[in-house]
Amino acid sequence: MGKEFTPWYFNPEIAKVYESFYEGKYKEADIQEKKLLKFLIDQIDDVREVLEVGCGTGHFTRWLHSLGYKVVGADISPVMLSVARELWKEGNFVNASAESLPFEDKSFDVVLYVACLEYMKDLSQVFREAERVARKGIVIGLMNKWSLPTIRRIIQVKLGKNPYYYNARFYSLPEIKRELSNALKGKNFEFLDWRCAVFPKIFGIKGLVKIPFGGSFLGIGVKFK
Ligand SMILES: C[S@@+](CC[C@H](N)C(=O)[O-])C[C@H]1O[C@@H](n2cnc3c(N)ncnc32)[C@H](O)[C@@H]1O
Repeated sequence: MGKEFTPWYFNPEIAKVYESFYEGKYKEADIQEKKLLKFLIDQIDDVREVLEVGCGTGHFTRWLHSLGYKVVGADISPVMLSVARELWKEGNFVNASAESLPFEDKSFDVVLYVACLEYMKDLSQVFREAERVARKGIVIGLMNKWSLPTIRRIIQVKLGKNPYYYNARFYSLPEIKRELSNALKGKNFEFLDWRCAVFPKIFGIKGLVKIPFGGSFLGIGVKFK
């Protein structure tokens, strides 16, 4: 876009209203996304401690806590984290960038990312950091590039009409698998069984489905061997 813009997640006014999306038009999507994330986490044995990187206002951090996981949220944005701390006063939230996490090696069972990798510039570095701090695996929920909502976002950005995604990069299933494989080259890992969710109503498809296009939320991850 030429001009330097500050990403929306550093804007306190947007941070304040961020959670309201989950109560509005994304309510049903939120339920499906959580189902998919749980489906992925459950493929890794005996997960107790989760680091959620790019946790934003802590929406999924609080959900993980409600399921009984010991959880820490990390995010680059102080304003998103200040909302997270307001919403969960006892929560453990850390201001950190995904590329350089302030945690000891192998501190958590799993590192989780939800709708945030899109904003990170160096996924290789991000995943190497995840592999460093995680003992068992990495779980990812993404905005699927091969879906109508994402294609719409890409077109809107090209037309200069959507300030939320001008600095985002979207991934399809093969692309995110390639990023993981490149970052974890030489490490002993296997891919989790992936799924898509949140299909537009016109498709008549519900639930978690093994079709890599159509569903706006894509879940994938790796398990270390
Ligand atoms: C769309 S929000 C998602 C928040 C939360 N995961 C959710 O799904 O509700 C993207 C988040 O990624 C964070 N983020 C972007 N780049 C980051 C980076 N390099 N390291 C850590 N967090 C980052 C932003 O601050 C923002 O809170």
